[in-house]
Order: sequence, then C-alpha cells, then structure tokens
Amino acid sequence: MSGQIFAQVDQYISNLLAPEDKVLQDTIKSLDEEGFPQISVTPNHGKLLQVMAKLSNAKKILELGTLAGYSTIWLARALPEDGKIITLEVEERHSNLARKNIEKAGLSDKVDFRVGKAIEILPQLLEDKEGPFDLIFIDADKPPYTEYFEYALKLARPGTVIICDNVIREGKVLDENTTDEKVKGVQRFNKMLQSNQDVTATIIQTVGVKEHDGIAIAVVNR
Ligand SMILES: C[S@@+](CC[C@H](N)C(=O)[O-])C[C@H]1O[C@@H](n2cnc3c(N)ncnc32)[C@H](O)[C@@H]1O
Repeated sequence: MSGQIFAQVDQYISNLLAPEDKVLQDTIKSLDEEGFPQISVTPNHGKLLQVMAKLSNAKKILELGTLAGYSTIWLARALPEDGKIITLEVEERHSNLARKNIEKAGLSDKVDFRVGKAIEILPQLLEDKEGPFDLIFIDADKPPYTEYFEYALKLARPGTVIICDNVIREGKVLDENTTDEKVKGVQRFNKMLQSNQDVTATIIQTVGVKEHDGIAIAVVNR
C-alpha cells in the first residue's frame, strides 16, 4: 500500500471532521512567514486533542511545546467559559507568535503563556500549586519525555489524561542501536510507560499527511 492513500484518507477525515477555519489556517501560515518549522499537529490530531479534552471534561489543561499556538487553539476551544490552558515554550519568538495567533482566535483570556525550559517551569507549577490539570499534552523536546511525564503525574489527579506526541518516529523506535537522541528519548519513555503502575496507557500508531508516528495516551489510575 502506498503512503499516498494514507495522506488522502487523512485529508478526507480532516475535510469531514476537522476543517480549519481562517484562524487555524493563518496560524499555520504564520510559521512560514516567520521561517519557523511546520511541526504543528495535523488538523485531525488537533481535533483528537479537542475530543480528549471534552471526554475528560477538561477545565484546566497543561501543554508542553507551544510553537505558534496551533494545538493550543484546538485545545482552548474545548474549554468551558472559565477554563484555562497553561502552555510552556522555550523559544520566546515562538511564544510571541503564539500570543498573536491566540489573540486573533479571541482566546487570550483562556491561555497563560510561560516562556522557559519546561524542565525548569514544571517544578514552579508544582510549587505554585497550579495543578491538578485535567489534561496534559506533552509535545516539546523528546529526550526528557520521561521526566516530563513524571512531572505530569505530580500535576495530575486520578482520571487526568496525559497525551504525548511523536513516540514512534517512523518506526525508528524499533532500532535498539539508534544513536538519535530523539529516538532514544522516546524509547526510554515508552519503556517507562510499559512498567508504570500509576496509569493505564497505550500508543496509537499514526499515518497521514505527516510522517509515520505515534501518540501515547495515558489516563491516571483511580
Ligand atoms: C512540535 S513543536 C510544538 C507544536 C505545537 N504543540 C502544535 O502542535 O501546534 C515543539 C515546541 O517545543 C519547543 N521546545 C523545545 N524544547 C523545549 C523545552 N526544553 N521546553 C519548552 N519548550 C521546548 C520548541 O521550541 C517548539 O516550539
């Protein structure tokens, strides 16, 4: 089967159930305008995040990796009137662009932008008692995914949904001799997930308009 059919079906699903409005389209365009990478989630995965946020009745969301705010918009749109999303980003230029896009989306009152290394902001969130979050989306740098997940657990409650993107990396996770730090990071993460007794988790393999990858979905045990 050719990869073309996966891209076409992904497009078909997005056209049917995850059509982008102008705000989302402009957010994707803004990445090109600024020369930033096109590494946002796809429309279909944005919709998946929205479905998960609704499923978990999320009122408080934490996101690691803002970029231009594309996934932030999908998630924030699932929040109730008094809902809030805190989004962490290490690159000030990314965060500034996201602020503009979120403003255009009319969601500024729902989004709290934090700039800095996630590994340094997460303990602050704990100290400031910002949790528990109802949904946590991990989509920042891959090597510390295990540590991000451990912090996510501390900022969670029973029933919290934790979603981690890009954990299959075109099947490179199968290569035990890999020297790729991103692959090694998600291999370590996936192995931790296997033995973690605090959550019930699985990984869904994803194919479509972007490269073959996978999303880990975990729910904190009651
Ligand atoms: C894949 S992109 C996020 C895409 C975004 N979630 C979306 O789908 O629209 C990853 C982002 O994580 C940021 N990042 C990388 N390392 C980070 C770190 N140590 N702490 C916080 N953010 C980081 C990158 O600058 C980049 O903007």
